[in-house]
Amino acid sequence: MPYFQPKLILPPTLTFTTKTILITGATAGLGLAATTLLLQHHASEIVFGVRNTTKGSLIASQILSSPQIKKVHPNAKITVLHLDLEKYESVLSFAREAREKYEGRLDMLLLNAGTGSLRREVLGEGKGHEKTMQVNILSPALLALELLPVLEATARRTGVPSRISWVGSFVQFDHSFGKIPIPEEFLAKDGGKDILGYFDDEKSFVSMARYSDSKLMVTMFVEQLARVVDPELVVVNDVSPGMVRTGFGEYPVWLRGMMAVFFGLKARSPEDGAKTYLHALGVAESESHGMYLSDNKVTDRAPITTTPVGEKIQEKLWDDMLKEFLKLDASLRIPKGQTV
Ligand SMILES: NC(=O)c1ccc[n+]([C@@H]2O[C@H](COP(=O)([O-])OP(=O)(O)OC[C@H]3O[C@@H](n4cnc5c(N)ncnc54)[C@H](OP(=O)(O)O)[C@@H]3O)[C@@H](O)[C@H]2O)c1
Repeated sequence: MPYFQPKLILPPTLTFTTKTILITGATAGLGLAATTLLLQHHASEIVFGVRNTTKGSLIASQILSSPQIKKVHPNAKITVLHLDLEKYESVLSFAREAREKYEGRLDMLLLNAGTGSLRREVLGEGKGHEKTMQVNILSPALLALELLPVLEATARRTGVPSRISWVGSFVQFDHSFGKIPIPEEFLAKDGGKDILGYFDDEKSFVSMARYSDSKLMVTMFVEQLARVVDPELVVVNDVSPGMVRTGFGEYPVWLRGMMAVFFGLKARSPEDGAKTYLHALGVAESESHGMYLSDNKVTDRAPITTTPVGEKIQEKLWDDMLKEFLKLDASLRIPKGQTV
């Protein structure tokens, strides 16, 4: 928990001129604040990936007609596309549409949308994955891989590395994997059981820690992805906005009340929190590839990530996620290494 959050200052010369930036979950909180801030920094086009396109379009027109944007960026553009991270089919059709529309001109992908809850919910009428896993890690990971070729093509055309910035959190330090170790049968590389099945199982669901576990998995996936993506083409990083006053999460009233008091004292405004996104997208360079950024600095990840067991979890997650993704899309290209 960040008890002290420093004031964040972006370089006065920072600009996103010519950049097309896709943001998931831009209808509220940090995603919305980041859109405004990116447009104030002259982003050429923002693409919303939102589950409610009516709400998305309303927010887009409110932003574009606001005096602050009209004054600094009268040609600002926002395109609204449908994306529901609860459903793989939606991720695949969204990625198809984005690839067609933005071939060779998508510069940045900001994986911001997320969910948190104390309640276990299994999607797909009980046959799918547990919801926090699906929304926070599985769908965004598939989306990142589906859009990687477009981001790489843009980098080849412009000569400037593209970006994938994935929103993680300091709560990764509160994961449950230390107290409740993942059984070895799910970690064995050859012939081991599917680790995604473990996370769907009721026995693995620690209600107070599932959100933290999902953010630990984000940091692990980002590190693993960075091992096979060339930072000269796409810089991949994991950004924590710190503690931010938004309406995040589907939490019970008593917890919301406690959070409101605590966040009221300690948290950043969404506008200040969004500065971490602009830093991850436009200031941090290849030194942030595969890294966790907190308070706009490369920062150590949760200690488990550097242990043998953490490494095992990270590699098994990667392997089992890729297996699942290839079943959904046999044409998905998995990057093999850092070759241009
Ligand atoms: N606030 C914090 O202190 C804090 C700290 C660390 C990390 N974070 C992370 O920051 C990110 C943004 O959170 P926030 O605080 O800005 O929360 P928020 O105000 O609740 O915004 C969450 C966004 O995600 C979207 N979303 C949720 N489920 C979705 C789904 N199934 N498909 C597509 N979009 C979906 C929401 O869309 P709807 O409008 O349709 O609900 C909304 O736009 C999250 O990843 C969160 O984990 C937040």
